[in-house]
Amino acid sequence: MQTISECLGIRYPIFQGAMAQVSRYPLAAAVSNAGGLGIIASGGMAKDELREEIIQCKKHTSKPFAVNLMLMAPNLDELIEVILDEKVKIITTGAGTPKKYMPTFKQAGIKVIPVVPNAHIAKKMEAIGASAVVAEGSEAGGHIGELSTMVLLPQVVEAVTIPVIAAGGIATGKGVAAAYALGAQGIQMGTAFMLAEECPIPLNVKKFIAEAGELDTVVTGRYTGAPVRSLKNKMIQQYAQWEKEGVSREKLEELTLGSARKASKGDIENGSVMAGQVSGVVHDIKPAKEIIETVLSEARQTVAHLTLNF
Ligand SMILES: Cc1cc2nc3c(=O)[nH]c(=O)nc-3n(C[C@H](O)[C@H](O)[C@H](O)COP(=O)(O)O)c2cc1C
Repeated sequence: MQTISECLGIRYPIFQGAMAQVSRYPLAAAVSNAGGLGIIASGGMAKDELREEIIQCKKHTSKPFAVNLMLMAPNLDELIEVILDEKVKIITTGAGTPKKYMPTFKQAGIKVIPVVPNAHIAKKMEAIGASAVVAEGSEAGGHIGELSTMVLLPQVVEAVTIPVIAAGGIATGKGVAAAYALGAQGIQMGTAFMLAEECPIPLNVKKFIAEAGELDTVVTGRYTGAPVRSLKNKMIQQYAQWEKEGVSREKLEELTLGSARKASKGDIENGSVMAGQVSGVVHDIKPAKEIIETVLSEARQTVAHLTLNF
């Protein structure tokens, strides 16, 4: 059977997770140039903006890259039109099922890799023709499901025959080795790549993540049915307080309106700085290439030195 790297034409099975307002072409191209799979997040983009990102990405790398589609985007049809026009060959999807669009994607030769929060959905994605799935555990930054990676991953691996990429809580070679022990054939990192030198977010946001401790992320939005993990700040603390007090959904939505954009512009107090639990693990800002090479060599060493004392 083909490996995921062979299937996608990449050197290493390392995906840079799509991050709305964060993973634009400079990061995606740097990851792809370093042998991983760079992914442009289309979340929140207008169609012309996405087209420009894809054009720039092609200018900055000759290697494969992907676009992530959030399936509840109000302008989804327009974004898909751009993907088809620009002949993007790999997409990852989130927030819904791509079932309706699969014939179009297949006809265009696009490989579809949905992000899944449980084995039940993974099976459905395999049945509709997904090339692989990303199993994302609740340690992850951004919108999350219920299950943690340790529990989710082996169940997804058991449920499907297509390759499973592990995401959520991975930022080190030891984490990569653990994901492989649980059956993954590749890994996706989001938070770790926010600290890439090429990641086009302000330095103060990178420092906020780099200096965070193990208990500094929090999940809000369980009450509205859309849990999100971010770093604690003034806005998130207010949100959590209001959630406890049971204030209206409208008032909560008002508070978070445009908050991811604010964070991407450097407002670490009133913006939503989405980041995973590994914020407590990553501390250094370095080139994407170094991030990838470090986790790969650490993973190899971890496996080589693994001894079972039983
Ligand atoms: C700031 C941020 C924004 C994100 N936006 C998206 C998105 O638009 N689409 C998506 O599928 N996943 C999104 N994610 C999830 C990542 O693609 C990735 O799966 C996740 O970060 C992996 O977990 P980690 O943060 O522990 O590495 C986002 C994550 C972060 C941190």
